Order: sequence, then C-alpha cells, then structure tokens
Amino acid sequence: MRSAVVFYSLEGNTRSVANQLAKRLGAEVFEVRPTKAYPTKGLAKFIAGGKDSTFGKAPKIEPLEMDPSAYDLVVLALPVWAGKAAAPINSFIEGRTFGKAKIALVIASASGDASGCARDLAGKLGRATANMPTLSLKNPGKMGADELATQVDDFADRLQHSAGGAF
Ligand SMILES: Cc1cc2nc3c(=O)[nH]c(=O)nc-3n(C[C@H](O)[C@H](O)[C@H](O)COP(=O)(O)O)c2cc1C
Repeated sequence: MRSAVVFYSLEGNTRSVANQLAKRLGAEVFEVRPTKAYPTKGLAKFIAGGKDSTFGKAPKIEPLEMDPSAYDLVVLALPVWAGKAAAPINSFIEGRTFGKAKIALVIASASGDASGCARDLAGKLGRATANMPTLSLKNPGKMGADELATQVDDFADRLQHSAGGAF
C-alpha cells in the first residue's frame, strides 16, 4: 500500500503526530508550508489564521510536488482553526485530484471537537465524513507520550486493516 501523510502545523503538535503516524504506516511525509508564515504569538495568531480559515482562503504555499491520486492512502493532518480546516490545507487540496486514493484525517485541536473541520474538508474533497477515518486529538502536545503512541498505533492499524476494503 503506497501511503502519504500530508501535514500542516503552526505550533508543532500536528507535525509530531504526523511524523509518528507516517513512521508507523511506512508512509512518505509532506509538509505544507505557507510562503508567508502565520504569526505564532498573541492575538495576531488567532486573527490571521482564524480569518483565513473562516473564509476558506488558500494562502500561497511553497511548491509541493505531490500527486494524491498516485497513492492508495493519503492522510491529511492539520489543526482546527476557527472550527474549520487550517487554511494552508485548503491550498494543498486546491487543484489536486485525489482519484481513487483513500483519505484519512488527523485533526488536532484545543477543544477535542474535530467535527466542523471534518465537515469542512469533506465539502472541499467531495467525500463523505463517514468515508474518511478520523483521529481527533485534543492538545496532542500535552498528551503523555505513551497515550499518544497508543492512539497513533491504533489508528494506523485501523487504516491498514481497512485499506483493502471500502472505508
Ligand atoms: C488561528 C487558530 C485558530 C484556532 N481555532 C481553534 C478552534 O476553533 N477550536 C479548537 O479547538 N482549537 C483551535 N485552535 C487551537 C489549535 O487547533 C490547537 O492548538 C492545535 O493543537 C495546534 O496544532 P499545531 O501545533 O500543529 O499548530 C486554534 C489555533 C489557532 C492558531
């Protein structure tokens, strides 16, 4: 099974989970990098990212050679911003075709509520949320290493076991 983990992370939580999951799946890893980094401090952090996500903006990102349709499984890993997908993931999705690739989601948030973000992505990807296995993590950076590893391992098992059949 050819797998890829594509992630965006502002503050490192999602990056760490994405790398752990990729290792567990034997997947290639791709990082989405906005050309103009979002602020990481103060109110500006929430205003800039919150605004772009609310309005479904697709900020300019560094070139990324990655064709999702060439994979059996593509995992999108990202934080929730303003209840939706962090805007840089929109830029990755825009103009790309996922073809027959199965899609799974890893969603980090402060609240543990990934539902709005998953719905947002389902609309953009043209897939039903029920067909995209989702690992929702509340503040993964604050989770114990063992607990996080267990959740990542269980999710990887789930993806590997369902890869042969319908999601
Ligand atoms: C601009 C912005 C908006 C956010 N909006 C939400 C939100 O609506 N709901 C939520 O639960 N967490 C929200 N968060 C918190 C992040 O989803 C959470 O801290 C996540 O773990 C960050 O992942 P990262 O370290 O990979 O960037 C927001 C964070 C930022 C920077």
